[in-house]
Amino acid sequence: MSFPPRFLDDIRARASLADIISKRVKLTRKGREHVGLCPFHNEKSPSFTVNEDKGFYHCFGCGAHGDVISFIMNAQGMSFPESVERLAAETGLEMPIESPEEREQEKIRASLYDVMELACEWFEQRLRDEGGRNGLDYLHRRDLDDQTISRFRLGYAPSSTSGGGLETAMRAHGVTPQQMFEAGLMRQSDDGRAPYPFFRDRVMFPIMDRRGRVIAFGGRIMGDSKTAKYVNSPDTPLFDKGRTLYNVAGAREALQQQYEQNRTGDVDGDLVVAEGYMDVIALVRAGVNAAVAPLGTAVTENHLRELWRLSSEPVLCFDGDAAGQRAAGRAAERALPVLRPGKSLRFAVLPVGEDPDSFIAAEGVGAMRRVIESARPLSDLLWDMEAQAKPVDTPERRADLQARLNARIRDIEDESVQGHYRTMFKDRLWAAFRSPARKGSNRGTGQDWRRTGGGGPGGTISGLGNSGAHVLARTASLRRNRRTQQAILAAMIHQPDLRDEIDEDLAGFEFDPDLDNLRQQLQNLLSSKWGLDVASIKAHFEIGDCAGVLDGVLSNQVYQHAPFVRPRASLEDARQWIREISDRVVLERQKEELRDLGRSTTDEAKVFAAGREVVENDRRLADFDEM
Ligand code: UTP
Ligand code: MN
Repeated sequence: MSFPPRFLDDIRARASLADIISKRVKLTRKGREHVGLCPFHNEKSPSFTVNEDKGFYHCFGCGAHGDVISFIMNAQGMSFPESVERLAAETGLEMPIESPEEREQEKIRASLYDVMELACEWFEQRLRDEGGRNGLDYLHRRDLDDQTISRFRLGYAPSSTSGGGLETAMRAHGVTPQQMFEAGLMRQSDDGRAPYPFFRDRVMFPIMDRRGRVIAFGGRIMGDSKTAKYVNSPDTPLFDKGRTLYNVAGAREALQQQYEQNRTGDVDGDLVVAEGYMDVIALVRAGVNAAVAPLGTAVTENHLRELWRLSSEPVLCFDGDAAGQRAAGRAAERALPVLRPGKSLRFAVLPVGEDPDSFIAAEGVGAMRRVIESARPLSDLLWDMEAQAKPVDTPERRADLQARLNARIRDIEDESVQGHYRTMFKDRLWAAFRSPARKGSNRGTGQDWRRTGGGGPGGTISGLGNSGAHVLARTASLRRNRRTQQAILAAMIHQPDLRDEIDEDLAGFEFDPDLDNLRQQLQNLLSSKWGLDVASIKAHFEIGDCAGVLDGVLSNQVYQHAPFVRPRASLEDARQWIREISDRVVLERQKEELRDLGRSTTDEAKVFAAGREVVENDRRLADFDEM
C-alpha cells in the first residue's frame, strides 16, 4: 500500500530523531546538533551529525543522509512500509485506513500466512513419522543433524495423492480448498480428476520472508536424478520468486547480531550469496550465518536491492566452471545500472565443480572462509572479463579493449560511480601497456603466477587483478586437465597438418592462462612463418617468457598422457584424439546450456526434456572421463 504524505509527515514530526538514533549510536550534544560515530561506516572520530530541528541526519565521512524513516530502513535493514509501521507503533499513530479492496486483499494475504505456517508444521511432523522415513534418511545421508533440520524447519511431503494427507489435515484447521490453491499447495488437474498436492514425495525446504514468515516451499526429490531435482512453490500473493532470497530472515538476524556485538565497528558483516538451499544450510552450519540464495533463478535487480539492504558488498559465490563464470558475468551486468556509492558486489570463485556445500564437506570451513575472504571486487571481475576475452597484443586490439571497457562503464547509471570506474580503468590500461611484457614476469616460469596471484603494476594484462579465489579455482581445474591442455599444444607443434582443425574444433576449449599465452604466441608464429620445425620453434621461444611453459608441453609426462601427440605419431590417431576432445567440449557446453534452460523455464515439459538430455549427455561424457 502507499501511505498518504500527511501520514508520513505526522510520523516524522512525532518521532524524535535523536531518541531513535541514540538507541544505536552514542550521541553527544553540540550546539543545535548531536554528534556521534557514524553507524554506516567505520570511523574513529565522530563525523555523524543529527539535526533534530530539521529532522535529518548527515555523515560528513561517508555522506549517509536521511530522515527518521530512512534511518530505520538503513540501520535495521527494513523495507519502507515496515519502517513506517514500526515508527507508527512507537509513536502511537494509527496506520491509515485502506480502501475496502485493499483491506480485502490484505485479509486474504494475512490468512495465507497462517495456511503456510500450518502446512510447514505438517510437513515437519511428517518427517518424524514412519512415512517420512525416506526423507529423514535422505537428510541424514546428506549429513544434516537434527538440530539443523529443526532450525531450517525441513519437512517431508508424502506421495499419497488421494484423500487424507495435507488436505484433510488443513481442512481440520478450517483451511478451504480455495486457500490451498492460492497458497500453491494444491493444484487443479487438467483432466477433471480430483485436485492433487503440489509437492509429492519430496523433502521440504520452507522459504521464509524477511520477517521469518513461511511464504513458499522448495521440495527436493530424494535421489540424484537430474530431472526437476527441486520444485518451488508457484508465485502466490505471498511469494515472488524473482525477489525472494532463501534464509533472508536468518541472514538479517545474523548481521544484526554482528552489529550489536560490535557497535563501533563496521556495520557490514559479510553476506554470502550461494546458489542453492543446501549451500546456504552448509554455510550456516559452518558458522557463516549470513548466507542467502536466490531460488533457482539468476540474481535479479530486485535481489540486488534486497541484498544491499543487508550489506553494502554481498559476496556472490560461483562455481569455477564456465557456466559459473558466465553466471558471475551476468550478475555483474545486472548490477552495473543499479550501482550506487558504497553499494557493490564481490565475487568468490570455487574450484570447478564445487558448490559451497560440497566444498565445505571436502575442504572444511577454513578453506571456505578463505574463499569468501579472497572475493574480488566487481570492478576486477569486469576488467578481467574484457581483458581476457581477446588478445591485446596490437595497438588496434588494445584500443578495442578500451572501447569495450568504456561500453561497460556507460551502463553504470550513477554518475559518481561511473566517474570512478572510468578513472580506475584508465589507470589500469595505462599501467598494463606502459611497458612491454618483461622477461621473467609473473607468468614466465609457469609456476609463479599461481603463487603470486598475478597483478601489480607492470604485470601482463591478464595477470592484473588475478587474486586469491580465482587462482584457487584455477589450480583445481589444473589438476584435472592441464596435461590435456599441454597435449593439445604439443599436437599443434608436432602435427602441422592438424593446426587448422585444432583452431576450429577446439575454439571453445579453455586453457590455463600461461598455456593460453603460449597458444596465442604459437598461433601467431605458426601462421606467419611457414614450415618451422620443432627446433626452430623452440629457438624462437628461448628468449621469450614462454620457455618454461613450452618445456612442460614437450615433456615425457605429456607424451605419456597422450601418446598420439608425440613427435612422429600417426596423423590419424592424433586427429582422432583431437576430435574426441572436441566432442567432449561440445557435450559439456550442451550440458551447461541444458542446465540453464532447466532453471530458467517453468514449463514442466521443457524441464523434463532438458533433464532427460542431461542424463544422456552425462552418460556420453562418462566415456571421456579418462581425459
Ligand atoms: P543445483 O543444481 O546447484 O543444486 O541448484 P544444489 O543446490 O547443489 O542441490 P543439491 O546439493 O543437489 O541438493 C541450485 C539451486 O537451483 C534451484 C534450487 O534452488 C537449487 O538449490 N534448482 C535446481 C531448482 O529450482 N530446480 C532444479 O531442478 C534444480
Ligand atoms: Mn549441492
